[in-house]
Amino acid sequence: MLNIDLSGKRALVAGVADDGGFGFAIAKSLAGAGASICVGTWPPALNIFMNLLERGKMDESRKLKNGKLMEFEKIYPLDAAYDTLADAPDDIKTNKRYKETGDFTIDGLARRIESDFGSKSIDIVIHSLANGPEVKKPLLETSRAGYLTAISVSAYSLVSMVSRLAPLTRPGGSFLSLTYMASERVIPGYGGGMSSAKAALESDTRVLAFEAGRKYGVRINAISAGPWASRAASAIGIIDKMVTYCAENSPLPDPLKADEVGATAAFLSSPLATGITGTTVYVDKGYHTMGMSLKELESQK
Ligand SMILES: NC(=O)c1ccc[n+]([C@@H]2O[C@H](COP(=O)([O-])OP(=O)(O)OC[C@H]3O[C@@H](n4cnc5c(N)ncnc54)[C@H](O)[C@@H]3O)[C@@H](O)[C@H]2O)c1
Repeated sequence: MLNIDLSGKRALVAGVADDGGFGFAIAKSLAGAGASICVGTWPPALNIFMNLLERGKMDESRKLKNGKLMEFEKIYPLDAAYDTLADAPDDIKTNKRYKETGDFTIDGLARRIESDFGSKSIDIVIHSLANGPEVKKPLLETSRAGYLTAISVSAYSLVSMVSRLAPLTRPGGSFLSLTYMASERVIPGYGGGMSSAKAALESDTRVLAFEAGRKYGVRINAISAGPWASRAASAIGIIDKMVTYCAENSPLPDPLKADEVGATAAFLSSPLATGITGTTVYVDKGYHTMGMSLKELESQK
């Protein structure tokens, strides 16, 4: 049998703060395939996440097929807006959610992994985070600061993570990020420069695949996922409509499930995918292939 076997591999999933998003679903698939899981959690969400975990509120969703609960080897604080502590402003460093966490930057994360596990200690890195403070604003009304924050947190963070974490990967290392088709088609309502950030993320996936592939031997891919009502997506305000619209108009008309993204991520991160890099794979029930809404077609009949 052809199996996804990730036993002996260590994954870092950056962007897990509850059990409702793609990061959690991907972590669960990787754990189900035998990988040990570390997560990176945004400091403002860290306490709530720890509480949910400690109170057993996520026990049901942590249950793997073998009946065991997915464990987190480490939970690292991570604010992907900052590469080093010197980049973080004082009001962040002294903020009550940040000040007890230690070095929450991308560089801090890399140093902690190295000190916890050694200089060649990681196999899989998942970038499952994004933030656009003005996502509800049309691009035309987006401020420079809002636009640059969207790009910084949602796209540059991948560049920074690859440059700092690729040196820590073991042979066969894999990076994977999550993108959305608003990078290439107009999705009204997905504003604030988030569409620009996703376009940058996909372009960077190709360039980083080349550069880091040659330098470190790692693979870098992206999954372009269909709409899913995660906590982050709910901030867009129209996510339920997007989910329904896609289900109604896709080649496969049932709504996308997060574990379908998880399973694809496990495959792309596994030795079965050693020939795949620099690619954006759609996991969206085929919605990206459509050029016309079915409702429009029906009304023509
Ligand atoms: N939900 C969708 O419809 C959809 C579709 C396509 C792609 N995606 C992408 O999937 C990825 C995961 O999002 P999700 O929808 O599963 O939501 P999610 O809420 O589960 O994940 C987003 C995570 O990003 C974290 N985050 C925000 N700012 C951060 C920062 N500065 N530093 C570190 N972490 C930060 C949040 O705490 C959260 O854990 C994102 O890249 C998103 O754009 C989502």
